[in-house]
Amino acid sequence: MTTLGTPLSPHATKVMLLGSGELGKEVLIALQRLGVETIAVDRYDNAPGQQVAHHARTITMSDPAQLKALIEAERPHLVVPEIEAIATPMLEELEAAGTVRVIPTARAARLTMDREGIRVLAAETLGLPTSPYKFCNSLEELQAAIDAGIGYPCIVKPVMSSSGKGQSKIDGPADVQKAWDYAMAGGRVSHGRVIVEGFIDFDYEITQLTVRAVGADGQIETHFCDPIGHVQVSGDYVESWQPHPMHPAALEKSRQIAKAVTDNLGGQGLFGVELFVKGEQVWFSEVSPRPHDTGLVTLCTQHQSEFELHARAILGLPVDTSLRNPGASAVIYGGVEAKGIVFDGVHDALRVPGTDLRLFGKPESFAKRRMGVALARAVDVETARSNAKLAASKVTPRKA
Ligand SMILES: Nc1ncnc2c1ncn2[C@@H]1O[C@H](COP(=O)(O)OP(=O)(O)OP(=O)(O)O)[C@@H](O)[C@H]1O
Ligand SMILES: [Mg+2]
Repeated sequence: MTTLGTPLSPHATKVMLLGSGELGKEVLIALQRLGVETIAVDRYDNAPGQQVAHHARTITMSDPAQLKALIEAERPHLVVPEIEAIATPMLEELEAAGTVRVIPTARAARLTMDREGIRVLAAETLGLPTSPYKFCNSLEELQAAIDAGIGYPCIVKPVMSSSGKGQSKIDGPADVQKAWDYAMAGGRVSHGRVIVEGFIDFDYEITQLTVRAVGADGQIETHFCDPIGHVQVSGDYVESWQPHPMHPAALEKSRQIAKAVTDNLGGQGLFGVELFVKGEQVWFSEVSPRPHDTGLVTLCTQHQSEFELHARAILGLPVDTSLRNPGASAVIYGGVEAKGIVFDGVHDALRVPGTDLRLFGKPESFAKRRMGVALARAVDVETARSNAKLAASKVTPRKA
């Protein structure tokens, strides 16, 4: 796309986001700034992205019939999945029929929505280093896989889940039953399949944001952002920073892995490649074919945030992945279970030097729901991390 239209006119450039959470909201804002007509889809009304889009639609995105009907009615130029729980075979059908272009590709959306598709591609087709793993359909198969070589400690995850749901670590035989039951309760669709992975005792983990964008000669070029370091608690990100210092050999390997995976997934857009690093050794963990939650930090560190990079790349526009300054992000959890909450302490939070806030506007708060994020830029990552955490700690969500 080299010509952009006027929104709400017959020549509008139309983009539909499937999923309109905090990450989709920032992509929508970036698209709005380029005069793109936006359609924000989610499973509930007034999702964060729906509050900033031209049109809001609420459907069950995992229902192929509803998804097809909506895409055929709206006829967007691009469909941009923001979440994993989508009827991706239907997207493949619509893409094959030429009805719509899916970002980055419908196949990438399908392969990354469950752990099996992407792990088999990375480890078996591409031969990339990953943790040892096995897929299991029952408690007996899980125990057999552990005994046959995965060993202890290991990690069990439902094949369809995100944000650490249903995921747990097994330290010894006594934990196996509990981990299986927990996985069965936490999977997105309860079809009883898990992956068990050998535990990687990494020094640190990073997200390698990777952008496939159209270059000057019309060919796709791959661009890399500076590595993002992060801390995960129970499989959910709580803190991230950029740049994360790395041994040059580890950085080089990380980018080779990121290039191999994103070349195979294809299309245009930004990807979040998750990697484990120990010394000079690097393991591929997983990849999001879309902006990554740990990449929220780029809102205060890069000339173009990961959301702007995604918007530009999908529209076929040039990108600049350069770092502007070090920075950090710290998550603000709801802490309370209530609708229409209020946030105390915003003034105090923003008095912390170099900070900014995103309050996502989610209509309902849960104790462990991500409701906002504090951002801090600073001369170095250490200062940025402590300022981001300080600012986040000053914001107190409560019942109105
Ligand atoms: N094999 C492993 N060895 C060591 N740690 C692991 C392993 N697998 C996962 N983890 C830890 O758990 C975190 C979450 O795992 P993973 O990314 O697979 O889950 P997820 O549910 O997809 O999370 P998200 O959606 O937030 O990315 C990882 O970032 C890492 O900290
Ligand atoms: Mg992950």
